[in-house]
Amino acid sequence: MAYYQLAPVLCALVQSKVYMHLYLNQVASGSNPNPNQLVIVGPSGEFGTTAVNDWNITIQPGADNPPVAKAQGLHMKSSQTKDKWYMSFNIEFQDARFAGSTLNVMGIFPENGEWNIIEGTGAFTMAHGIIKHNIIQSSCEKRVFELKIHAFYSNMTSSQASPCNRWTMRA
Ligand SMILES: *[C@@H]1O[C@H](CO)[C@@H](O)[C@H](O)[C@H]1NC(C)=O
Ligand SMILES: *[C@@H]1O[C@H](CO)[C@@H](O)[C@H](O)[C@H]1NC(C)=O
Repeated sequence: MAYYQLAPVLCALVQSKVYMHLYLNQVASGSNPNPNQLVIVGPSGEFGTTAVNDWNITIQPGADNPPVAKAQGLHMKSSQTKDKWYMSFNIEFQDARFAGSTLNVMGIFPENGEWNIIEGTGAFTMAHGIIKHNIIQSSCEKRVFELKIHAFYSNMTSSQASPCNRWTMRA
């Protein structure tokens, strides 16, 4: 028996949309006793500086609140002239409803704008969308970003159950 199965998608995949309003808390090292990022390639703050981040995402603004998710990945200073960082991370949810599911995000910070959601896993399989972000607090090497997450996704289990296509792959 073949190790793969192919099936035509006979009608549009059933997609859901999720909207979330959350806060991302960045706490740099330096004077902060409990940082959630670490420079791994220096010199700190110059072009090419790369840091690993484990930023807490919370329902209320402020790093002291319990996280519902973590933004885990890398950011790298990618402009020679501006405070502009390229970043790529997974948002991994921890709360009961979405525990273990991820959104895969890339973009530029800290300037206000939008990041891309380029994929997802678990509840958010095949996610695509944007995260609108803006800085609402910034002091003492800490920042709080307000996040407005807009994503479409398609639950593979629901897709199997859909009467109009026949996905049978189960790993
Ligand atoms: C983030 O959340 C963890 C629990 O997952 C907690 O231990 C930590 O103190 C929080 N704050 C920061 C700044 O990372
Ligand atoms: C996918 O949808 C099914 C049926 O609605 C549901 O039982 C299941 O929990 C969903 N899976 C995820 C990961 O949300």
